[in-house]
Amino acid sequence: MRKKIPVILDVDTGIDDGVAIILAAKCPKIDIKLVVTCHGNTTIKNITKNTLFILEKLKRFDIPVAEGMASPLLIKRPHVSAHGADGLGGYQYENPGFDLLKESALEATHKILSESQEKITYICLAPSTNIANLLKEHPEDADKIQEIVIMVGSNEPVKDGETPYKEFNASVDPEALSLVLDSKIKKTIVSMEMGHTAYLNWKDVYKTEKTNAFGEMLENIFRGYKDYHVRNGIATHDGCTVAYVIDPTMFETREGHMQVRFFEKLGSGVGVIDYDKTPNVTITTKINIKKFKKLYFKTLKKCKI
Ligand code: BDR
Ligand code: CA
Repeated sequence: MRKKIPVILDVDTGIDDGVAIILAAKCPKIDIKLVVTCHGNTTIKNITKNTLFILEKLKRFDIPVAEGMASPLLIKRPHVSAHGADGLGGYQYENPGFDLLKESALEATHKILSESQEKITYICLAPSTNIANLLKEHPEDADKIQEIVIMVGSNEPVKDGETPYKEFNASVDPEALSLVLDSKIKKTIVSMEMGHTAYLNWKDVYKTEKTNAFGEMLENIFRGYKDYHVRNGIATHDGCTVAYVIDPTMFETREGHMQVRFFEKLGSGVGVIDYDKTPNVTITTKINIKKFKKLYFKTLKKCKI
């Protein structure tokens, strides 16, 4: 069997982060070295609890989890979450029975990277605060990162004077994103459109519920999903991002340039993509919906409660 891909997963769980954790934790190709939590979809305490809950349901007690940044690097901005106040759409569950690492996300990530004999892929499904903080505090760790695969931004053009479509992860901590984009590490951007293309339609949601008890639980969680993540079904932006690491052939990509543009009117920033400038990132432009759903349902069948 091919060597597994070692990864660090940075999450703000979050309904679609939950789907992403499931895809990664059940994939035989992926070796999760560490999960770090980050502020974003809800408070850091809720996010950490939700993350431990999902891992517990997957019986992956072996995966270390470290709590990360509770707020953005520099500026705290008000934001609305599509995941409900508690991050899992109001889904009620018992307190998870397994513990966090004592180290912070920064300490744990630094330890794993500095002691690793191989390069590690960093998957960021949250605002970029943890990874930006790591690059600030331990710039030498950049050499140990194979690639940063990050769910952020949109291919939708932003014109002058226009209110741009805000992608959540970019808008919550644009200063951190800017720092990450400036780094020399190879970066792949899994843009907003992937989740909105390969969304689970209502038939898929029904099939999810009928697959097994795990699917029934997921369907319950999906019910609390709101706003732009729910158009004709359930968008799993973060799930698509993990799918990119599992099978990049599922995607079409293009080399491009991403830069943070700060909009006074919004009091925040967006990741603006420009294909005419010197590329600094790889950007996903298309996802194979069939392949994504096949991966999702194949994974779900492996989940037993
Ligand atoms: C991103 O924002 C969050 O709401 C999701 O978890 C995803 O990471 C999509 O914009
Ligand atoms: Ca997320």
